[in-house]
Amino acid sequence: MNGWNRKDLLGLEDLSREEIELILESATSFKEISTRTVKKVPTLRGKTIVLFFFEPSTRTRSSFELAAKRLSADTLSIATSSSSIVKGETLKDTLKNIEAMQVDIIIIRHSSSGTAKMLSECVAPSVINAGDGCHEHPTQGLLDIFTIKEKKGKVEGLNVSIIGDIAHSRVARSNIWGLKKLGAEVTVCGPRTLIPQDIEKMGVRVTTDLTQALKGADVLNILRIQRERQKAILFPSLREYAICFGVTREKLNRFAKKDILILHPGPMNRGVEITPDVADGEYSVILEQVTNGIAVRMAVLYLVAQAGGVEEQSILEE
Ligand code: CP
Repeated sequence: MNGWNRKDLLGLEDLSREEIELILESATSFKEISTRTVKKVPTLRGKTIVLFFFEPSTRTRSSFELAAKRLSADTLSIATSSSSIVKGETLKDTLKNIEAMQVDIIIIRHSSSGTAKMLSECVAPSVINAGDGCHEHPTQGLLDIFTIKEKKGKVEGLNVSIIGDIAHSRVARSNIWGLKKLGAEVTVCGPRTLIPQDIEKMGVRVTTDLTQALKGADVLNILRIQRERQKAILFPSLREYAICFGVTREKLNRFAKKDILILHPGPMNRGVEITPDVADGEYSVILEQVTNGIAVRMAVLYLVAQAGGVEEQSILEE
């Protein structure tokens, strides 16, 4: 086998450096498929993949669906608002019913941390975490790291600053786990109220001064303020946040390296955490992240399906 034997992908905390590198290498092969006239290979023909999103999503949901379709899998999207969960059925019962329909992979996004893990322990199909509360968003972390590696040629030794609402960000957590395993130095920056108390235990540097996060950084990963997850008022106003922590061209010109890379997982709040000229400017790889997301998710689907019994074959076969 190729070194992957996990049925599920729940988070980057669980993965070894070798497993992360295997996903990134596989994604490099899969990326080429999306440039073909016929963007389809038969790798997962006959497999059924269910997308279950309990929170809004533009990128992750469509990216997983396209990744599955480009591998020739059958997909089923379940809208929670029109499912029997609104009649009082539990999530576990719903998933047991989906399991009874002989599906192979369940992709789930949920507002509660730990939901993907809980489900992975009670259903046989592979479970892929598409974001659970403030906990992890492993495929976002992987596509961010893939994009950094593609642009910088390496991850080891790079200085990556993650700026924004660290406390409520599953993207921050998956980035930190993955980047640290691959040897990057990670700084987190934001208002003290948006940085978890014990974040240093993850091996990151902490600053509340944006200038310090910009100086010496090779990569900025800029996060949005997740007001939907905040239970209290944690900073005075968006205007003040933008003044203190918003990344602008003027601040980049003054403090950042000339070859800095700007990432943002989306959705962006233009004019708050990032100005439009930075989002659309020459340092930005935000839309390339989205392109790479499909390749990374194709790799993840392929690997978990293999662990679940798909025959190993050339992934590029037409
Ligand atoms: N980055 C991300 O998870 O975006 P969506 O919420 O649109 O899926």
